Amino acid sequence: MSNGNTLRHLAIIMDGNGRWAKAKGLRRTKGHEKGAEVIRDITRFCADHDEIESVTFYAFSTENWKRPQSEVNFLMRLLERYLKNETSTYMEHGIRFLAIGDTSAFSPALRERIRQTEEMTKENTRLTQILALNYGGRAEIVHAVNRLINEGSPVNEENLSSALQTPYSDIDLLIRTSGEERISNFLLWQISYAELYFTPTYWPDFTPGELNTIIDIYKKRIRRFGGI
Ligand code: FPP
Repeated sequence: MSNGNTLRHLAIIMDGNGRWAKAKGLRRTKGHEKGAEVIRDITRFCADHDEIESVTFYAFSTENWKRPQSEVNFLMRLLERYLKNETSTYMEHGIRFLAIGDTSAFSPALRERIRQTEEMTKENTRLTQILALNYGGRAEIVHAVNRLINEGSPVNEENLSSALQTPYSDIDLLIRTSGEERISNFLLWQISYAELYFTPTYWPDFTPGELNTIIDIYKKRIRRFGGI
């Protein structure tokens, strides 16, 4: 595990829940339900991994509001249920939970659940699980720049990195499932030197075993960070 590139911050664009369900003749919501189980399995794997310090999942983008209202409502309820059910995973595996994105648009109950989960897990140190919720990378950068201007701080790379919502901001490895090869406004600042990996697997079929294989491939890649 310690050979090759270090892997501190992993980011994942979870895609393909709908297509997974359609291929099985199921409702799209079934794909999201299975997807939530996969988030749990991958998070546990990351907590047991000796290098990974944080894993950031793209759970709801600012564009996801365009989906039918019934699907948006389902995703909101699923998120609330997920946070409630995962309390034991967070506490038993030493996982800290953090949300990034503008959660002010969510229901008071969901916001309270997010706040409680952040509060309850804040002393956990094995892994930080970050869920990007109503998140957009451009909005995060604009917000950070405005924060610096309002504080009267110079806008430079170092200050901007620390003003972002995402802790441990540099991503080492970004994975997107389902065969799409796009970034979709995710962590734009933080992926500057990230290694990218696109797998055709739909998110509900993604496993810790496949993640392990991808990590092995990542370890062998040459990262130059602009050098030679
Ligand atoms: C993409 O599949 C998935 C999302 C909308 C984001 C991820 C959401 C989950 C994994 C559901 C559970 C989330 C939490 C945090 C409990 P898609 O619907 O875009 O799939 P498609 O492109 O095949 O239609």
